[in-house]
Amino acid sequence: MAKMEVKTSLLDDMIGVGDMVLLEPLNEDSFINNLKKRFDHNEVYTYIGSVVISINPYRSLPIYTPEKVEEYRNRNFYELSPHIFALSDEAYRSLRDQDKDQCILITGESGAGKTEASKLVMSYVAAVCGKGAEVNQVKEQLLQSNPVLEAFGNAKTVRNDNSSRFGKYMDIEFDFKGDPLGGVISNYLLEKSRVVKQPRGERNFHIFYQILSGASEDFLCKLKLERDFSRYNYLGLDSAKVNGVDDAANFRTVRNAMQIVGFMDHETQSVFEVVAAVLKLGNIEFKPESRVNGLDESKIKDKNELKEICELTGIDQSVLERAFSFRTVEAKQEKVSTTLNVAQAYYARDALAKNLYSRLFSWLVTRINESIKAQTKVRKKVMGVLDIYGFEIFEDNSFEQFIINYCNEKLQQIFIELTLKEEQEEYIREGIEWTHIEYFNNAIICDLIENNQTGILAMLDEECLRPGTVTDDTFLEKLNQVCATHQHFESRMSKCSRFLNDTSLPHSCFRIQHYAGKVMYQVEGFVDKNNDLLYRDLSQAMWKASHSLIKALFPEGNPAKINLKRPPTAGSQFKASVATLMKNLQTKNPNYIRCIKPNDKKAAHIFNDALVCHQIRYLGLLENVRVRRAGYAFRQAYEPCLERYKMLCKQTWPHWRGPARAGVEVLFNELEIPEEEFSFGRSKIFIRNPRTLFKLEDLRKQRLEDLATLIEKIYRGWKCRTRFLLMKKSQIVIASWYRRYAQQKKYQKIKSSAIIVQSYIRGWKARKLLRELKHQKRCNEAATVIAAYWHGTQARRELKRLKEEARRKHAVAVIWAYWLGLKVRREYRKFFRANAGRKIYEFTLQRLMQKYFLEMKNKMPSLSPIDKNWPARPYLFLDSTHKELKRIFHLWRCKKYRGQFTDQQKLIYEEKLEASELFKDKKALYPASVGQPFQGAYLEISKNPKYKKLKDAVDEKIIIAEVVNKINRANGKATSRIFLLTKNNVLLADQKSGNIKSEVPLGDVTKVSMSSQNDGFFAVHLKEGSEAAGKGDFLLSSDHLIEMATKLYRTTLSQTKQKLNIEISDEFLVQFRQDKVCVKFIQGSQKNGNIPTCKRKNNRLLEVAVP
Ligand SMILES: Nc1ncnc2c1ncn2[C@@H]1O[C@H](COP(=O)(O)OP(=O)(O)O)[C@@H](O)[C@H]1O
Ligand SMILES: [Mg+2]
Repeated sequence: MAKMEVKTSLLDDMIGVGDMVLLEPLNEDSFINNLKKRFDHNEVYTYIGSVVISINPYRSLPIYTPEKVEEYRNRNFYELSPHIFALSDEAYRSLRDQDKDQCILITGESGAGKTEASKLVMSYVAAVCGKGAEVNQVKEQLLQSNPVLEAFGNAKTVRNDNSSRFGKYMDIEFDFKGDPLGGVISNYLLEKSRVVKQPRGERNFHIFYQILSGASEDFLCKLKLERDFSRYNYLGLDSAKVNGVDDAANFRTVRNAMQIVGFMDHETQSVFEVVAAVLKLGNIEFKPESRVNGLDESKIKDKNELKEICELTGIDQSVLERAFSFRTVEAKQEKVSTTLNVAQAYYARDALAKNLYSRLFSWLVTRINESIKAQTKVRKKVMGVLDIYGFEIFEDNSFEQFIINYCNEKLQQIFIELTLKEEQEEYIREGIEWTHIEYFNNAIICDLIENNQTGILAMLDEECLRPGTVTDDTFLEKLNQVCATHQHFESRMSKCSRFLNDTSLPHSCFRIQHYAGKVMYQVEGFVDKNNDLLYRDLSQAMWKASHSLIKALFPEGNPAKINLKRPPTAGSQFKASVATLMKNLQTKNPNYIRCIKPNDKKAAHIFNDALVCHQIRYLGLLENVRVRRAGYAFRQAYEPCLERYKMLCKQTWPHWRGPARAGVEVLFNELEIPEEEFSFGRSKIFIRNPRTLFKLEDLRKQRLEDLATLIEKIYRGWKCRTRFLLMKKSQIVIASWYRRYAQQKKYQKIKSSAIIVQSYIRGWKARKLLRELKHQKRCNEAATVIAAYWHGTQARRELKRLKEEARRKHAVAVIWAYWLGLKVRREYRKFFRANAGRKIYEFTLQRLMQKYFLEMKNKMPSLSPIDKNWPARPYLFLDSTHKELKRIFHLWRCKKYRGQFTDQQKLIYEEKLEASELFKDKKALYPASVGQPFQGAYLEISKNPKYKKLKDAVDEKIIIAEVVNKINRANGKATSRIFLLTKNNVLLADQKSGNIKSEVPLGDVTKVSMSSQNDGFFAVHLKEGSEAAGKGDFLLSSDHLIEMATKLYRTTLSQTKQKLNIEISDEFLVQFRQDKVCVKFIQGSQKNGNIPTCKRKNNRLLEVAVP
C-alpha cells in the first residue's frame, strides 16, 4: 500500500517545471520564464535539486496553514509540489532519523523574504517536533526571540519595511527524539551607523518608534522621554510612520516576548533606559569656543539634555561633560590630553551612541542565549538557520556593503563546495563513477578579500595601524599597489593600465568582480569604520555609570584593565566571525533557500524580468543547475521509479515480484533507452539527460491513456456482463415466481371445481336421503293422522254419547225441578204474594247500609279536630245519618284530643275557652288572639336586675307582667308602665326605675271597658271611694288586651268569687278624678298606619281613632 502512495507530484500537474534540473533547454531565458510562469500561478517555490528557490509573493498565500504542515509532514522531498515545508521536513527528518546536524542557509537580497523564510522554517519545525509542556515552553522561547531581535535589529529601508540590519545565525538544538532543547543565536555586524543617521525614506531601528508610540505616559516620564518623534535628532522624520505597521501594538508584543523569553522586569527597564539614553544623546549639541592658545574647543549648548542622560544612566555629569571635550591619548606611560573641536565632539557623541546601541544589541543576544540555552548536557543534534543579509549593490557602496558582500562570497564558496561535495558523496554512495564537473570557483575572490597578507581586509588593518597620517586615499593607493594584477580587482589608479580609460570608474573607488557581479566601492569611510573608534575617555565615563547594564557594556573603561593594545578592527572581527561560521556550517548538512525579489515596489503580482535576471546571475543559480546536471540530471530511488513507470513494460505491469532494481533494469532494457543515458546506483537510478526523463514521462502519459482506454473497455464489458447476468438472474427469479403463481391459480381452480362437483354429489345424495326421510316421515304422519282421525272419531262418538247422556240427565233434572217447582208453587202460591215485596225491600236496604258502612270505614278523615274533611254522601236517603255521623265523629275525636292534655295544657285551654266565651264575636281584636299562646309574664322581672326592687316589693306570684301604655288623662298621650297582676292586686310601675306607681287590690276593680273594635285600649274602673280610686280610673292600651282581660277576669273570679264586669262598647265613661270623661272610638284615617291614635277633644271627650 505504502508503495502505491509514492507519487512524484513534482512531475504531475506541473506548472512549468518544478525542478530546474529538468529544464530543457537550459538557459537564462528559459530559467526566468519558468520562474515567471510558476510565479504567475502562485507557485513561489521551485527546486534546483534539493535547493529551494523562493520568490517573495509580497502577499499572504494560503500555503502555510496547519493543514499544509500536515500534508508535508513525513513525506518525501519530491513527493509534493515544491515548498519550503518540504525542505524543512527533509532537514528535520534527516536530523532526527539519520542523526545529521543540519543547517539551513537562506540567502537573497534585502526584501527577498529571508527572514520570513527563516521564520517559516522555525514554525514548521516547531509544529512537527515533539509536544509537551516543557517542549512547548522551549519552542515558545525560541520563537519569541524573533520579535525582540527584530525590534532592536530591524528597520524600515527603501527595500523592505522590516529589513534585518544584522546577520543572524541560530542553532536550534534537539535531543535524540527530535524534541527541541534550546538554542544559540549568533549575530553579525549590526548596521550601527543607522542609529545616528538614516538614508532618505528610511527609519531608525523600530524600537525607538515603538517606545515613543507604545509606552505609557508614566513610563515615558520615567525614561525622561517625550512622545513627539520630532523632538529627537536621531529619528529621521520623513518616514517616521510606516504603512500597515502599528508601532504601539508592536511595543506590547515586544515587551510580552521579552517576558516570555525570560527577561526580568528590571532588565527590561534597564534596556529601555539605554535606548532612551541613546535617543537623548542625539540631542546634545555643541558650539565652538576659541581658546587663547589657539586651540579649538567645543562646549555643550544646552546642558539640560546632558543632565537628564546623566540622571538616567547614573553618570557624574562633569565626567561625561569632560569626556565630550577632551581626548586622552596614552602612549608609553604618558598621558596626553587634547581638546576636541566641535566636529570631533559630534564624532565622539555619535560614536558613543552607536557603540552604546550596538553593544546593547549584542548584550540582548547574549541575554537571550542565556535563556534559550539547552538545560541538559545530553548529546544534541543541531539545526542551524542562517538569515544573513544578501549581496548588496548600491549606487554608493561603502565599507558595510564590502563586508556583506564578502560574507556572501564566502557563503557562495561553501555552497559550491558543499553542493559538489554532496553530489560527489552521492555518486560514491551509489557506486557511480565520478565525472569531473567544470564550475566557477570563487575561492580566488575570497582570497582577494581575506588573504592574510595581500587581502583587502589585511591591508585595511595595516593602514589603520600604521603611524602617520592615514586616510581613505592612502588606503586606496595601497590597494592599487598590491592588488593591481588581481583578475577580479579593478581600479582607475592601479598600475595595471587596463582601467585607465574606464570613465565609469571614479578615482576614489575600486571595483571587485564578485561571483555575482561587479561592485564598485567608495573608499571614503573605510578607515574610520574599520577603526570603529570610541575615545577611551568616553568608555571610561560609561564604565563609571552607576547603571549596571551600561557599566557592563563598557568593560574596557575599567582603568584597572587598561589595555594599550588596540581593539580588533571591525574588519578583522567580522572576518574572524565569518571564518567561525563557515567552519560551523561545513560540519553540517546544508539546505539552501535562495530568496528572490520579484520587484522593487514591494508589490504583489509584479515580476520584473530584469531584476530577477540580475539576482539569478549573482546567486549563480544557473551555475547551480549546471553543477547539479553535470553528471546525471535526475535521480530517483528504484521503488518510486518502478512504481511510476512499471506500466511501460509487460513484465513489470501490473506487478513486479522481484527487487525494484531488477524491475527498473528490465523496464529500461525493454524501452531500449541508450545505455549512456542512465546508470544504476545502489538505491537510485541516475538519468543523465532530462530529455530521457521527459521521454519516459511522455511514454507514461501515452501508456496511461491506453491503460485508461483498456480499463474503460474492461470496465464497460464488466459492467455489461454484470448487467446481463443480473438481468438473467432476475428473469429466472421472475419466471419462477410467475410459474408458482400460475400453478397456484390452476390448483385453486381444480380445487374449487372438485369442491363444486363434490358438493353437487353430496347435495344429490343428501336430497336423496332427504326424500327418503321425508317419505318415511310422511308415512309416519299419515299413520298418525289416520290414527288421530280414528281416535277423534272414537272420541267424538264417545263425547256425543256422553253429551247425549248428560243432556238426558239435565233434562231429567230440569224436568224434575220444573216438576218440583210446579209442585211447590202449586203448594205455596197462596203465601208468596203478601210477604215477598217487603222482605226483598228490607234485604236490599240492609245490603245498602252494610255497603255504606263498610265504605265509610275506609274513607274516615284524620283525627285532627280541625280537619274539615268528610266523605261525600252516597245515597240521599242517608243524608241525616251522614250528618249525624259526622257530628258524632267530630265530638269523639275532640274528646280523644282533649284526653291527651296535661293539667297545664288544660289550664291554658280553659283560659282560651274563657276568652272565647268573653270576647268571641264581641271584640274585633279577638280572632287575632286565638293563635297566640297566653304567656302572662312577658317581662322577666326576676331575671332583669333593673327590676330587683320591684321584684322584692311584690312577693306574690306574678300572673301578668307586661309593658302597657297609660293614656294621660289630660292630653291623651301615652306613657309606658309595667302592668303587674298578682293573685290579689293590680300594680302599675315605672318602666325605667321599676318604682310602683299604683297598687289596686282586686276587690277594688269594678269593671273593665273596651271597644268592640280592633284596638288595645281598655279602661280599669275602680270602686268609688276606695283608696286607689283617688286619682281616677286607668285608661290603658296593650297588644295583649284579650289575654289581660281574661286573666283579670279569672283571677278576680277565683279571689273574690265575683264575676268582673266586662263592658264592650264603642263609647264608655271613665272617671278622671272628679270628672267623667267619655271615651269614644271612631273609624279613623290610616294616617298613622295601623296604630290607633288618642286625642282629647274637650273636657268631656277623648276620641280614639281606630284604623
Ligand atoms: N513567503 C512570504 N509570503 C508573504 N510575504 C512575504 C513572504 N516572504 C516575504 N514576504 C514579504 O516581504 C517582506 C520582506 O521579507 P523579509 O523576509 O523581511 O526580507 P529579507 O529578510 O530578505 O530582507 C516581508 O515583510 C513580507 O511582507
Ligand atoms: Mg531580513
